[in-house]
Amino acid sequence: MENFEQRHSGERAILVSVSVQQLDDLDAEEFRLLAQSAGAEILEHITVPRNRPDPKFFIGSGKVDEIAEQVQYLEAELVIFDHSLSPAQERNLERILKCRVIDRTGLILDIFALRARTHEGKLQVELAQLKHLSTRLIRGFTGNLEQQKGGIGLRGPGESQLETDRRLIRVRITQLKDKLVKVQQTRLQGRAARQKAAIPTISLVGYTNAGKSTLFNILAKSDVYAADQLFATLDPTLRRLEWDGVGTVVLADTVGFVRNLQHDLVESFKATLEETLEATLLLHVIDASSPNMSEQIEAVETVLKEIGAEAPILHVYNKIDISGDAAKIIYKTAELPERVYVSAHSGQGLELLSEAVQQCLMGQLQHFDLTLKPAYGKLRNQLYSLNVIESERYEENGDLHLTVCIAPHKLEQIIKQAHLPLDEILGNKASIFQRPLEEFEIQHSSL
Ligand code: GTP
Repeated sequence: MENFEQRHSGERAILVSVSVQQLDDLDAEEFRLLAQSAGAEILEHITVPRNRPDPKFFIGSGKVDEIAEQVQYLEAELVIFDHSLSPAQERNLERILKCRVIDRTGLILDIFALRARTHEGKLQVELAQLKHLSTRLIRGFTGNLEQQKGGIGLRGPGESQLETDRRLIRVRITQLKDKLVKVQQTRLQGRAARQKAAIPTISLVGYTNAGKSTLFNILAKSDVYAADQLFATLDPTLRRLEWDGVGTVVLADTVGFVRNLQHDLVESFKATLEETLEATLLLHVIDASSPNMSEQIEAVETVLKEIGAEAPILHVYNKIDISGDAAKIIYKTAELPERVYVSAHSGQGLELLSEAVQQCLMGQLQHFDLTLKPAYGKLRNQLYSLNVIESERYEENGDLHLTVCIAPHKLEQIIKQAHLPLDEILGNKASIFQRPLEEFEIQHSSL
């Protein structure tokens, strides 16, 4: 049993990277981390110098033979390429190497499959895996059936079994798509309700391993899985929390980005980034200690543009405990922060982050002077619990004057929910809530 688990958790793997020049250390390290995230036990990392991929094997046939020897010698079960292989190349390599071969897409999908936790995430992953698999069954099979005799990983099903597999895969893909539509509809309804209740959403985005989950845990004081493994988070994980000076917000953690993520993968996992599209504010978490920092920033911002995210971005430079930066805020304009430097580990700069987020959301917040009759104590308690009261003063007649800083629609919502008169509490300012009847009804019916 123990033996089985060991084999299962640490598949013995040889890694292969192809590079024109000497392989960049950081790329090599990232590939190794990816493989480890998928649970591979790395036996060797082979770099193959090459300008153009070979159509048959991706690498030269001499090199394939060398790797085959290593596979045998080291008793490897798997060879992982840090590139996209065509289905035919994958099969040709498997035939010679006599072990399973996967490419970068397969590896990333594997990690997604290991990490998916929510129902929707699991469906998304299964769908992407089946799509990846179906191209391999179809094209790999038509091209090379004759050569597929014997060999580990090649003693596959015969033609009719493959036909059946293909049909089953098509059926399963259709089922998954239907299920996903339903799950997404439910999620959209949840989001619509949140938007109408005017709760700002803050989304954490960033390159994989930047520290999103660690930061999320601290901010949300939750226990989302954070580990030194790439993609520790696949599904958007949401928490409602009280942000100082802002009130209730929803914090969303999202899947990490990587370079060279194939476009169809980005497409497949777009749903996990949808929270990002809807966010009021994006916190772009950056690993300030990474020598690849600027490329990583660029990779993330490119994808954000690609998916059409329009929310304002606050750049959060994390890991200053090891990067040597000081905790600070850098401003874009006098009031608008652009960057904040923090450490999720040591806690340095976290109060600055709180302040910066508050300032970013301020644009959407306004000051109001309220007058509350003594009987409206419950409203005061509510505002107090939202942490939005800036000052308060009692009149001699027992009325309470409050200055609050809050999103206008949030204020309107809680006054109306308490069935209290807007104009009595807000005086002249109540007029900003006077809008066409129709719009008011939509807003009202959603409360
Ligand atoms: P993905 O889920 O892969 O996208 O990663 P993530 O961005 O959610 O990163 P995660 O929070 O899992 O952190 C990645 C690694 O960085 C973990 O080993 C953390 O302990 C470490 N880490 C996070 N924040 C800090 C920090 O402020 N300083 C240091 N030194 N390490 C940190």
